[in-house]
Formats: sequence, structure tokens, C-alpha cells
Amino acid sequence: MEKKKASFSGGLGFVLAAAGSAVGLGNIWRFPYLAAKDGGGLFLLVYIILALTFGFVLLTTDIGIGRRTKKSALKAYESVNSKWKFLGVLTFIVPALIMTYYSVIGGWITKYIVVFTTGNAKEAAKDGYFNDFISSKAAPIVFMLIFLAMTSVIVYLGVEKGIEKFSKIIMPGLLIVVVLIGIFSLTLSYKAEDGTVRTGLQGLFVYLVPNFDGLTVQKFIGIVMDAMGQLFYSLSVAMGIMITYGSYVKDDVDLNKSIRNIEIFDTMAAFLAGLMIIPAVYVFMGKEGMSEGPSLMFVSLPKIFEEMGPIGNFVGVVFFFMVLFAALTSSVSIMETLVASCMEKFNKSRKAVSLVMALIYAGAAAVICLGYNVLYFEVKLPNGAIGNLLDIMDYLSNYVLMPVIAILTCVLIGWIVKPKYIIDEVKKNNTSFKREGLYTVMVKDVAPVMLVVLLLKSLGLF
Ligand code: PHE
Repeated sequence: MEKKKASFSGGLGFVLAAAGSAVGLGNIWRFPYLAAKDGGGLFLLVYIILALTFGFVLLTTDIGIGRRTKKSALKAYESVNSKWKFLGVLTFIVPALIMTYYSVIGGWITKYIVVFTTGNAKEAAKDGYFNDFISSKAAPIVFMLIFLAMTSVIVYLGVEKGIEKFSKIIMPGLLIVVVLIGIFSLTLSYKAEDGTVRTGLQGLFVYLVPNFDGLTVQKFIGIVMDAMGQLFYSLSVAMGIMITYGSYVKDDVDLNKSIRNIEIFDTMAAFLAGLMIIPAVYVFMGKEGMSEGPSLMFVSLPKIFEEMGPIGNFVGVVFFFMVLFAALTSSVSIMETLVASCMEKFNKSRKAVSLVMALIYAGAAAVICLGYNVLYFEVKLPNGAIGNLLDIMDYLSNYVLMPVIAILTCVLIGWIVKPKYIIDEVKKNNTSFKREGLYTVMVKDVAPVMLVVLLLKSLGLF
């Protein structure tokens, strides 16, 4: 049994590890498709406002609870207040749900690495290529298994610390590649069938400038709901993960500063991914193409790489490799949470638990893959979206469970143990906490009320 508790070497080690968990497919795959679906600029604006308020409050709370209790989520809530043990159990369900589909998307990334390294960039840029892939029966499962195997081996061997060392190079590298692709996509232009020419700069305008035309209250609430779920998902908050990370942080680390850096890094990554994808989607697929959904990046990026000419193939390889790395650091953090909790609960070894977990998820994720062919169906979800199996999992975790956990966490901290519980933790060692006032109002009043409204809307209750 591993009894000794690991801790990060200092502020930077913590920020890198937390950013490694936070920056992943959520930023690169999920943010752009939601932003595009919700029309670009307005979603971006709402997202940034929410990140500065809700994101900051939830991240501070999770990390604060972790460092103060020095326990992982399952036990941390219980030590905050003995009646709140159930909340720890509830947080466990979120990564358990997310893991069912994270490796499916990880598999899609793995597939594109193979496509680009084998020089098939041209094929991938053709219309319908991605759809043919996900609707085939075996290939998506095979690639998912490869991704899941990589994740499981890292967790099984307990070597994620070794992987994180590479984060220092690969994560900033990924951001640079994303910026370069983004700049390139601004130079694109395309003549549509009806003769109109769409340019990258027009696309940039769509991405950055909020468009209020035809906006109704219902639509606006829908956008806020999407942005909020995305924020939770992207920051890995309201699911216990950041509590666990917080529990590893040494007492002399300036939490306020670390939290700000994690927020900036995560939001920057999402913003830049949007910059890379959305203008290009607008150029090649027009406004109608923007509501493509989860397949958006897989459909649009190969078209950008093709436009780059011969070098495009190489850029594609580099890009998908780096995304794979970002996805792996996130999926490892999800699986690690699940494995660590089960080791504690069932008193079994890391190896045994990881093996069982890998087998369970191989089965679960295969079912999700089949959701695009054999098990294909569409249902109208209570939040108004139309979804298949993968979307249902995504809906349950991001639109239902995370808001519930966030509401309960705010009630616990805002009203039961009082915000001072977290504020004192942040201000330990006399570090400043500039947003203390904002934190208190948000965690007590604003966040719970708004989250309840959004939850009711997600459940289709008004
Ligand atoms: N935040 C990660 C991302 O953006 C995903 C993640 C979800 C990580 C849940 C951990 C837990 O991809």
C-alpha cells in the first residue's frame, strides 16, 4: 500500500500538474465546437466572464478544501463536515462518467495521428471522411483501446509524475503550434457554390464579436448553460479532481497566484483552440457548418492542413501528437482519481485496481463507440440538444451532476462552514487574496442562485 503522501515541489510543480489535468480535449475539442454552435463571439464573452467569476470561485474552493483537509475528495468533504460525506461519493460519479467517452475521443485523435503519419492527409480532408470512420464498426473501437491502454499503463505503473516532466515542453509547444495554425487559418479564403467568398478574417470576426441579432432570453440562457458546463469540464472542477490536487500542495505555496495561473493557462488554451478552428470552419463550411458538434475539429482541421500544401502533413502529425499528449495527461488524471479512490475503498493494490478499471472502461467505451453505428439513436435531451450515446454521457456529467455538485459545494462553504474556511486557507502565510470580496458574494449568493436556475433549465424544467 502506498501510504506516503506525495507532494508537489512548489508552486510551479503544482500549476503544471493541475494545468496538465485541466488542459486537454476539453479545451481543444469541446470548447471550439460549443463556441461555434453558439455562434462564436457571444459564447466567448459569456465564457470569459464566467471563468473570471464562477471558474475562479470553484477552483479556489476545490483547491482550498484539498489543501486544508489534506485528503482526496472521497474523504475531504467528510472532514469539512461529517454530514457531507455523500458529496464526496457524488463527485466520484463525474470522472466515472467522463472516462466512458474521454477515451473514445482520445481514440479519434490517435486515428488522426496514424492518418497523418502515413501521409493520408488528402483523404482526411475529404467530406464525409470522419463520418465514415466513426460509423465503421471496428476501427473506432481499436483506436479507443490503444488510447485507453496508454492511459491504463501509465496509471498501472504509477508513473504519471514522469510524464508530467514533459509537460513543461509539450504544453507550451502545443500552444505555439495552435497559434501558428490559427494565424494561418486567418489567411484562408474560399469561394462557396453561390459565388460568395468567405475569408478567415470574416471568420475571426464571427469568433470574436458578439452577435445579438435574434437573441432571445431562452437562447441566451442556453448559451450560459453551455458555457458553464464547459467551464466546469475544462477546469476539472466540481468533480473532486482539483480537491485531490489541492491536497498535494505544500502549505507555503501562494494559492491565489497558482490558481490565477491555472485559470489563465486553461482559458488561453481554449481561446486559442477556438481561434484555430472557428474561422476555418466559417471559411469552409459557412454559418451552417458551425453547428457540426463533436466532430467539428476532425472535419475542419484536415482541410486547413490540406490548404497548407506539402508542409500540412507534417504540421498535422506534430499537432495531433501534441494533442494526444494533452489528452493523455487529462485522461490519466481522471483514471488516477478513480483508481486512487477504489484502492482506498477496497484496500486493493494499484495494479489490481488499474487492471479491473481498464477492463470495465474498455467495455463501456466500446459501447459508446457503437453509439455511432450499431447502437445509433437520437434522443432529445432535456436541455434541448439532440444526442446519441456519447452526448448523453456528456449531458449527464456536465449539465446535471457538475451543477449539482457545484451548488452543494457552494452551500457547504458559503452557508455551513462559511467562506472564511477557504479564505483563511488562501491567506495562509500572509499572502494576499485580492478577490476575497468577490469570492464571498459569489460562493454564498450569486453562484448558488444562478446554478440552480441553470440546473432547472438543463433538466428542461422551464
Ligand atoms: N479538464 C480536462 C479537459 O479539458 C478534462 C478532464 C475532465 C480532466 C475531468 C479531468 C477530469 O480535457
